[in-house]
Amino acid sequence: MITIVGATGNTGSVAAAALLARGEKVRAVGRRPERLQKLAEQGAEIFTGDVLDTAAMTKAFTGARAVYLMIPPDFTQADFRGYQARVADSLARAIEASGVTHAVTLSSVGAHLSEGAGPISGLHHFEQRINQVRGLNVLHLRPGYFFENFLMQIGAIRQFGMMGGSMRGDLAVAMIATRDIGIRAAEELARRSFTGQQTRELLGPRDVSLAEAAAILGKAIGKPDLRYQQMPYEQFESILTRMGLSPDGARLINEMYRAFNEGRVVAQEKRGPENTTSTTLEQWATEVFVPAFRGQAAGA
Ligand SMILES: NC(=O)c1ccc[n+]([C@@H]2O[C@H](COP(=O)([O-])OP(=O)(O)OC[C@H]3O[C@@H](n4cnc5c(N)ncnc54)[C@H](OP(=O)(O)O)[C@@H]3O)[C@@H](O)[C@H]2O)c1
Repeated sequence: MITIVGATGNTGSVAAAALLARGEKVRAVGRRPERLQKLAEQGAEIFTGDVLDTAAMTKAFTGARAVYLMIPPDFTQADFRGYQARVADSLARAIEASGVTHAVTLSSVGAHLSEGAGPISGLHHFEQRINQVRGLNVLHLRPGYFFENFLMQIGAIRQFGMMGGSMRGDLAVAMIATRDIGIRAAEELARRSFTGQQTRELLGPRDVSLAEAAAILGKAIGKPDLRYQQMPYEQFESILTRMGLSPDGARLINEMYRAFNEGRVVAQEKRGPENTTSTTLEQWATEVFVPAFRGQAAGA
């Protein structure tokens, strides 16, 4: 039995399905049973519970050979880093109480930075808290920038004909399809060959800048002139709060992009076969972005 936290999310849903396909037993954790139904149909045991409910997580982890841990992103929290710390502590205590021996966590490139990188520094402390669990073998996966972040640009593309944000447009960074993270997590959870406390960056197929990403996505949706526009931090922060993020959540996202822009959030591993994943942005654009763009256009 392998327990997957965030089993309906980008990475967890893929990890759960890949484990089921390998014949593993899976306990899929989320808050809403209706969203877990698809995995139940594929043979998963479904478990409803909140990551902040340590007793529920202890039950979810009990009897598992390995668990997949993540901090669900909730940028409406008034104190986002405090929320990350509370989730980390709840999951760590649930591992201690359930006696699980192997865990794979979802962290991030840049998680070597204890401060100054917004939510990514929260993931640094998440790793540290899980590392405190005595006797646990843990692998922290540190992926780059998710391709899925581009889905949040669909509104701006439709309304203003452009993509925007506070990150530099010319900065090439590691970018990755979340399905490749889920597949890698499933392999590691099934194999359980990691010991002690390890980290592994996942860097996608190659580094890509937002300017180049706009060109690739624009071509895929039939808007070859699509551009990415960098905007001032203050302007981006007010857009984020108008989208429903808390002031603290918006501030921390800017802190993270500033850390990218100033070259502090950078891969620590040399690119090689172990940290390079296969799905290209062009492929993801065709398979995921184009249908999502057309779907939102049709629903508008
Ligand atoms: N975006 C990036 O570029 C990037 C890069 C590196 C790392 N990361 C990290 O990746 C993580 C997000 O991973 P993801 O994209 O796979 O997740 P996701 O798609 O946002 O899914 C979140 C999952 O958690 C569940 N969930 C939400 N709140 C919950 C709660 N309070 N208790 C229990 N379950 C809850 C959701 O299901 P229900 O809503 O049904 O409960 C869902 O299954 C974050 O920690 C983020 O910091 C992101």
